[in-house]
Amino acid sequence: MRNHTASFSSSSSSSWYSNKLLFRQLFEKESSTYTYLLADVDHPDKPALLIDPVDRTVDRDLTLVKELGLKLIYAMNTHVHADHITGTGLVKTRVPGVKSIISKASKSKADVLIEAGDKIHFGDLFLEVRATPGHTLGCVTYVTGDAPDQPQPRMAFTGDALLIRGCGRTDFQGGSSQQLYQSVHSQIFTLPKETLLYPAHDYKGFTVSTVGEEMLYNPRLTKDEEEFKSIMANLNLPYPKMIDIAVPANMVCGLQDPSAKPDEALSK
Ligand SMILES: [Fe+2]
Repeated sequence: MRNHTASFSSSSSSSWYSNKLLFRQLFEKESSTYTYLLADVDHPDKPALLIDPVDRTVDRDLTLVKELGLKLIYAMNTHVHADHITGTGLVKTRVPGVKSIISKASKSKADVLIEAGDKIHFGDLFLEVRATPGHTLGCVTYVTGDAPDQPQPRMAFTGDALLIRGCGRTDFQGGSSQQLYQSVHSQIFTLPKETLLYPAHDYKGFTVSTVGEEMLYNPRLTKDEEEFKSIMANLNLPYPKMIDIAVPANMVCGLQDPSAKPDEALSK
């Protein structure tokens, strides 16, 4: 069964980790955002969740969910994004019963507000919540469960806290380079080295890393805290072009106008 599914799942060898977990990494090219689909396909209901869906690609994601016979129960965000509008609002209007999730610390609206230590169950699988502020005040990392019946190696969905060979900027949205440094070192680099890291974005074509790899090769987070702070203070990045549209929309989890199509919403 496993070989059979692997043969047509995708060209990526990272699509299937166990007979229970269905995992897909999906890409939105305008904002270089990754959306992740996880489901417990061993459970009769095949409950599923989407992490960081984007409004423009909601149709694609929901078609995939339907084709795979999954029951979507959660649409969740790692943080309030500044570069795109979340798809969670649209998902909720298209699939009745789906609950949106974001951290309480983000001060945004959602059906479920989570905090560090919370567990998000889907079937017999679960994600644990780790608070990783610094890129924004409310950033969290979702990590697959630490138990024998959960996927191995563990997987961490880091949002913009830790990117592959990089990290999110810290100059907007309550960001703090000191806080980000401490978050990554205390909440992500303490995970087993083989833990797979799945960020919210990649701009160079990387798809996955590991804790061990970033501890060795991340050009920012391998430095000491003072040097890290200096690097982050001197990035000279342009003002995020979507921030004034995306942040207000995402503070209500994308439910700015449920009847508006994504493109109409973006042009307002
Ligand atoms: Fe972000």
